[in-house]
Amino acid sequence: VNTRVSALIPAAGSGERLGMGPKALVALNGKTLLERAISAFIGIADEIIVALPESHLEMALPDGVKRVLGGLSRQESVQNLLEAATGEIVLIHDAARPFLTIEIVRATLEALREVGAATVALPAADTLVLEDDVPGERAGHRPAPTWGTLLDRTKVHAIQTPQGFRRELILGAHQRAKLEGVTATDDAGLVARLGLPVALVTGDPRLFKVTRPGDYALAEAFARVWDEEA
Ligand code: CTP
Ligand code: MG
Repeated sequence: VNTRVSALIPAAGSGERLGMGPKALVALNGKTLLERAISAFIGIADEIIVALPESHLEMALPDGVKRVLGGLSRQESVQNLLEAATGEIVLIHDAARPFLTIEIVRATLEALREVGAATVALPAADTLVLEDDVPGERAGHRPAPTWGTLLDRTKVHAIQTPQGFRRELILGAHQRAKLEGVTATDDAGLVARLGLPVALVTGDPRLFKVTRPGDYALAEAFARVWDEEA
């Protein structure tokens, strides 16, 4: 069957932690985060929709790319994107993760077609430790954390994007979350909390989210290597 795929790109954040204005419009090696995210879906998605901040709602976009107004939170921006999407399948990808390969997009599509929901997830590389509970903790004073419980690194993943879903499934999960006052920083979590399966697709360290000034420095340097290989 030939199901239509909508790529949905939340790009309406204000980039507070980075401090360079709306983050999606920040350029790396002459190309914005938004342009990079969009170009990863050209030729794969039947429809591309971006959520933009109000200040940039009228900005120029590549031919055929649709736009919606973003919301106050990422979750609201995604809701607006989902309401505008027409594909039976949606892929949701943060503009803040500019280094996305076609292979990752394909692997996400394949996994979600079997399970109904899938997210890219990076297996942990470092030893992972849950900090000790601090008995004396009180407001305004938090002593340095100490080593608590060692986690099984082979079973821990850092969740990235893209995440893919059957549209009706993720729309329902968002409506439930809104009704119940649940907020989340990603979409797969809203599906998982309903007890529904979410496939984990092997992620890539290059899919890191540009969040703080240090990430930007790394991304700017890496963009030159990335663009050289393209
Ligand atoms: N996002 C969005 N609408 C919002 C908030 C965030 O579409 N109201 C998008 C961002 O543009 C980004 C992704 O969600 O592509 C992940 O969010 P984050 O990294 O937190 O970006 P910002 O919210 O812009 O950054 P900050 O939290 O530092 O302000
Ligand atoms: Mg944010």
